[in-house]
Amino acid sequence: MTAIPSEGRLAQALKATGEAVNAELEILLPVGSGPEHRVHDAMRYASLDGGKRLRPFLVLQSAALFNVAEAAALRVACAVEMVHCYSLIHDDLPCMDDDDLRRGRPTCHRQFDEATALLAGDALLTRAFEVLAADPTHPDPAVRCPLVWELAHASGGQGMVGGQMVDLRAAEFTMDVPAITRLQQMKTGRLIGFSCEAGAVLAKAAPNLRQALKNYSHDLGLAFQIADDLLDVEGDAAQVGKAVGKDADAGKATFVSLLGVERARAQANMLADQACAHLDPFGEKADLLRATARFVVERRA
Ligand code: IPE
Ligand code: IPE
Ligand code: MG
Ligand code: MG
Ligand code: MG
Repeated sequence: MTAIPSEGRLAQALKATGEAVNAELEILLPVGSGPEHRVHDAMRYASLDGGKRLRPFLVLQSAALFNVAEAAALRVACAVEMVHCYSLIHDDLPCMDDDDLRRGRPTCHRQFDEATALLAGDALLTRAFEVLAADPTHPDPAVRCPLVWELAHASGGQGMVGGQMVDLRAAEFTMDVPAITRLQQMKTGRLIGFSCEAGAVLAKAAPNLRQALKNYSHDLGLAFQIADDLLDVEGDAAQVGKAVGKDADAGKATFVSLLGVERARAQANMLADQACAHLDPFGEKADLLRATARFVVERRA
């Protein structure tokens, strides 16, 4: 059992990731001068200077386990963050969660308009794959192609988008713990899973090591979504940077509505411990990923 590093080291590493991701997104996102510049402005608005950058952090940390070149990992990190930001733009639209606040600022459709927000989401999604497929991401197309496939699979109808559909239709079904678990795995878990495995894909790592990261991400993703549900009940909108109390208002079944606050928190903590146990094959090298599991359940934003 290795010691978990101080919160300070993780906070520092997350901050560094935030800065690196911002700088890279500045380069990767388009800047137009024609009338289309409005969609470029909206893409930048929704993806620069905000969020915890958890998914990019997981990509960079999993890549570091295998000594993958940071420049390559950073492109993959930005690709998954683009998909995440697109999912948030669309999730906030009036036809979905109808939210006005995101990352402490007006949501994209509030700042621009619905059509621009829709297009900004579309363009972030497609740009993500353009970045993954390009040479600088990895010299070997036999690595780039699986990255494209994995991100597509995690994001699409059997992944995040599928989970969003189940989320919208949840009132039609009996949502017990297995059903909620499946929904959260699709909606949130799959992109987190991609992020954790990306380092292993970039490094062509041994299957058992990739599996260890997959197992870690499985527990981490669920713990993360339980924490999101807890923040919706207990969080402070100013601190969380988005509206709270929305799930209960919408009558949404979540881990918290099913288990209650205390049991949901206990479940999240148990999952975080379980996530850490999967990292044993990496020894001390995975200490920041262990600290991330704690951060995910203890976070206030
Ligand atoms: C929010 O994700 C949406 C969910 C999948 C629960 P994050 O909590 O990672 O949002 P940001 O990126 O930090 O804003
Ligand atoms: C959305 O889940 C997850 C996505 C795929 C975007 P939520 O609707 O719970 O996310 P928040 O609470 O608005 O960030
Ligand atoms: Mg939603
Ligand atoms: Mg939402
Ligand atoms: Mg939520």
